[in-house]
Amino acid sequence: MEKEKFTSRFGAIMATASGAVGLGNIWKFPYMLGQNGGGAFLLVYIVCVICFGLPLMITEFVMGKSSGQSVRGAYQTLAGNNRWNFVPILTCLTVMFITGFYLVITGWCVKYFWISIVDGAWLQSMGGNIVCSLVAALISMGVLWMGVNKGIERLSKIFMPILLVLLVVLIVCVLLLDGAGKGLSFLFAFDASKITSRTVLNALGQCFYSLSIGMGALITFGSYIPKKQNVASTAAEIVGIDTLVAIMAGCAIFPAVFAFGISPEQGPQLVFSVLPAIFGQMPGGQIVSVLFYFLLCIAAITSAVSLLEVLVASLMDLTEKRPRPISRHKGLIYAGAACLLISVLCTLSLSADNKWLILGGKTLFDWVDIITSNFLLPIIALGTVVFFGWFVDKKVMHEEMAPYYGKQKWTMNVYYFLIRWCFPGLILLIALNSIGLL
Ligand code: TRP
Repeated sequence: MEKEKFTSRFGAIMATASGAVGLGNIWKFPYMLGQNGGGAFLLVYIVCVICFGLPLMITEFVMGKSSGQSVRGAYQTLAGNNRWNFVPILTCLTVMFITGFYLVITGWCVKYFWISIVDGAWLQSMGGNIVCSLVAALISMGVLWMGVNKGIERLSKIFMPILLVLLVVLIVCVLLLDGAGKGLSFLFAFDASKITSRTVLNALGQCFYSLSIGMGALITFGSYIPKKQNVASTAAEIVGIDTLVAIMAGCAIFPAVFAFGISPEQGPQLVFSVLPAIFGQMPGGQIVSVLFYFLLCIAAITSAVSLLEVLVASLMDLTEKRPRPISRHKGLIYAGAACLLISVLCTLSLSADNKWLILGGKTLFDWVDIITSNFLLPIIALGTVVFFGWFVDKKVMHEEMAPYYGKQKWTMNVYYFLIRWCFPGLILLIALNSIGLL
């Protein structure tokens, strides 16, 4: 059966951008920025995105587009043998755990959205959390059920623009508060003394996460990009949208935080416990809070959709040549069920009653996060750059770029210098930093 492709350039950009724009932009970026010195972190982050994020996004897109396959098939086609199969297998396992984890937090977004409309005390219970994750998972699965064009592409063409408009509305509301200016100057004032090696490595890690690099998602989406579309400019636009949304989220959150005299260094609970308190005291707070959590739900659910798509597409590719290939619908049920199970176990582990899910003082929820982001993701990212830089024929990249950039040899030389020599070392540094060895 012919594989689906995105119907237009706009569709491809919206679909991939809506996957990239997620909790990383609206939940994680603001608290990371708050903890890492404000404007200095922002500048370092932008430099990382351009020098590091963009070339890696292009690499993954080229892998998907030139092979026409998702993660599993892309490695096999480009390598011409089975020797690299461990990378896609590890990728799918990691994505399964990350999706389970992501659904827990997406569930929190749904919960706060629900609470901002009606007062549902029961939602705070364990059962309430599980129901919310289930709702998020079922919505995401419903979208994928309809396929790449009718599901993912159509959904993101509607919701990505809505998300941008909502962010603008929120920024305007927040900027009307007394004392909002201090938040903006925290965000944009540059203080070089705040840049430490830690800031740089945190910014690099955040850039990876926010652009969905190293998880096979960009390979999968790359395989849906129409043949005639330029992947380099497509990647540049997606990177631009993702970074813009992160900065806009900062502009919506910090002015409120400063106007209410709260310290910006709150960490992960910034969006889930500090903001509700602020909304409670703000004029028109309920409307702002409904808008904010609706926005967070859109961002998180569209990302959960693209995470799940990695698994569904790989299951379909893997069994394509078998007598009874797995259909999209069947693959979706398998993948969805596995991720939901992980997410329910993660939620259960957050209650002290379930001691069997707590190991060495840390819950299953913590362990999934620690193991995936500190160990598995760096291994996969390293696998990707070493594979593409050293083992894939340079012709693959040349053929993708030549129609648009002709024979500009120096860009290729810079690219290969980065991917062969700089990126592997940088990825190791990020990994050592997140394990705490640096
Ligand atoms: N980029 C997403 C965010 O900002 C998170 C993410 C990482 C992701 N890798 C992914 C989403 C792969 C979809 C697919 O929240």
